[in-house]
Amino acid sequence: MNRLEDKVAIVTGASRGIGEAIARDLVANGAKVVLAARKPEALHAVAASLGDAAHPIAAHVGKEDQVEALVEGAIAHFGKVDVLVNNAATNPYFGPMMNVEWGAWDKTFEVNVKGYFMTSRAVVRHLLGRKSPGSIIHVASVVGLIAAPLQGVYAMSKAAVLSMTRTLSAELGPRGIRVNAIAPGLVETRFAQALTSNAALKKQIVDRTMLKRVGVPSDIAPTATFLASDESAYLTGQTLTVDGGWTIG
Ligand SMILES: NC(=O)c1ccc[n+]([C@@H]2O[C@H](COP(=O)([O-])OP(=O)(O)OC[C@H]3O[C@@H](n4cnc5c(N)ncnc54)[C@H](OP(=O)(O)O)[C@@H]3O)[C@@H](O)[C@H]2O)c1
Repeated sequence: MNRLEDKVAIVTGASRGIGEAIARDLVANGAKVVLAARKPEALHAVAASLGDAAHPIAAHVGKEDQVEALVEGAIAHFGKVDVLVNNAATNPYFGPMMNVEWGAWDKTFEVNVKGYFMTSRAVVRHLLGRKSPGSIIHVASVVGLIAAPLQGVYAMSKAAVLSMTRTLSAELGPRGIRVNAIAPGLVETRFAQALTSNAALKKQIVDRTMLKRVGVPSDIAPTATFLASDESAYLTGQTLTVDGGWTIG
């Protein structure tokens, strides 16, 4: 319950799916959490269900002014930020890389790469300003680790996140700021519906998964809580793969 006592976190993409599960687990372990997503209705509903430990701020993480307002709003509400979970991402294009249109390319990189970086930078500036340690957690994907036919553009953005994780961890380690990534395998959420609702595709994935099922958001959340907590005080620059053993198959 008190693993995260006195810690304040921002979780992006917290109105459903993996981000919601992470926000709930952080609060259950004693953190105060600012929840971010674009559409206020679902976001406010999740925050309300968590009580005073949660505070919703609507923000598009690809827009610099909204990212600045998110971090400033979190500091104004809870006094500080110690933990950032960059989780909000998009995947507007499913198909061969050769056929991608620039609009889908730009949107993918705006949210998944620039969005993660802008939000990290805003939180890191705050941490450096108060000479405080902190933990930045990037929700990446197993597709950032391997070839990913039909998901190549999204996979490139996730590989960029893993690179960002390593370099930021090297640059910020001396200041006590840890930066790690989680690479989930397939998880039942709205985001993954195109894959989970296709029975043949889902069977293929389950067959290759050592634990013989796809993930659910609560499979991912405890890893974020661990990375947010001081239990992972000597862990930085790493990618923790949470995929039921899919990538070793
Ligand atoms: N599900 C999987 O199989 C899987 C596997 C590996 C990795 N992941 C990663 O896990 C993370 C979460 O995915 P999920 O499956 O939980 O997705 P999800 O259920 O679709 O939830 C996405 C969340 O992000 C928010 N969001 C989307 N675009 C945003 C933006 N531009 N600015 C702010 N918030 C935004 C959404 O709310 P609004 O629409 O209101 O903004 C929502 O809260 C992503 O980084 C994804 O790449 C997922």
